[in-house]
Amino acid sequence: MGVEKKMSKPRFDVISIFPEYLAPLRLSLVGKAQENGLIEIGVRDLRDFAEGLHKSVDDTPYGGGAGMVMSPEPWARAIDEAAAGKEGSHELIILTPAGKKFDQGMAYELATKEHLIFACGRYEGIDYRVTEHYALQPDFTVREISIGDYVLNGGEVAALVILESIIRLIPGVIGNPASLDEESHSLVGEDEEQLVEYPSYTKPSEWRGLAVPSVLLSGNHGEIARWRAAQSEIRTKKLQK
Ligand code: ADE
Repeated sequence: MGVEKKMSKPRFDVISIFPEYLAPLRLSLVGKAQENGLIEIGVRDLRDFAEGLHKSVDDTPYGGGAGMVMSPEPWARAIDEAAAGKEGSHELIILTPAGKKFDQGMAYELATKEHLIFACGRYEGIDYRVTEHYALQPDFTVREISIGDYVLNGGEVAALVILESIIRLIPGVIGNPASLDEESHSLVGEDEEQLVEYPSYTKPSEWRGLAVPSVLLSGNHGEIARWRAAQSEIRTKKLQK
């Protein structure tokens, strides 16, 4: 299932001190989606919004402790500029290992939004008043999101992961939308059991002594569908062990 709601062209803004980290957004399906005018992506260098000779974006933490904390003002300037570029409401996504765990259900939800702004923090994170400030703005929704229980050096890779999973759900981005229905993790309905995808095979029918399961060569579509459903169950059960 794609995202069917009628909407204006979705826009994605990313703010980072390493904008080059976001270069892959120019490649593959996400790059094509921009070229084809299906989506817009903007990348901003946080440092462009910093002041002073050293364009500093961080400082020592109040209360002490190791590392540095990103200062709020450069973030607010960058976020305000990104917000001014798109009418309507904005979802501010702050990438942090302390956020809500990202999953396919969240991808579907975010794929219905018209403007997402990704704040890729580094070091010990962004001054928490940035979250508090935007949570108070009526035209903003703030979400702190983690892509998993591990610590990255910054939010850039997390933003890439989330963007790729959202953008492929936008109508027109994937050539064959039927593949969205069949793939792993597409069964995210509340009552439906979440199943992973069955294994896939292509030519040659025999490779390094291994044959493709004969049912797939049978031409019997009912049998094939039953076999695939059973394989999905088996694979899903194995993951739960
Ligand atoms: N920044 C550092 N680690 C992260 C994670 N696991 N998810 C999102 N942002 C992060």
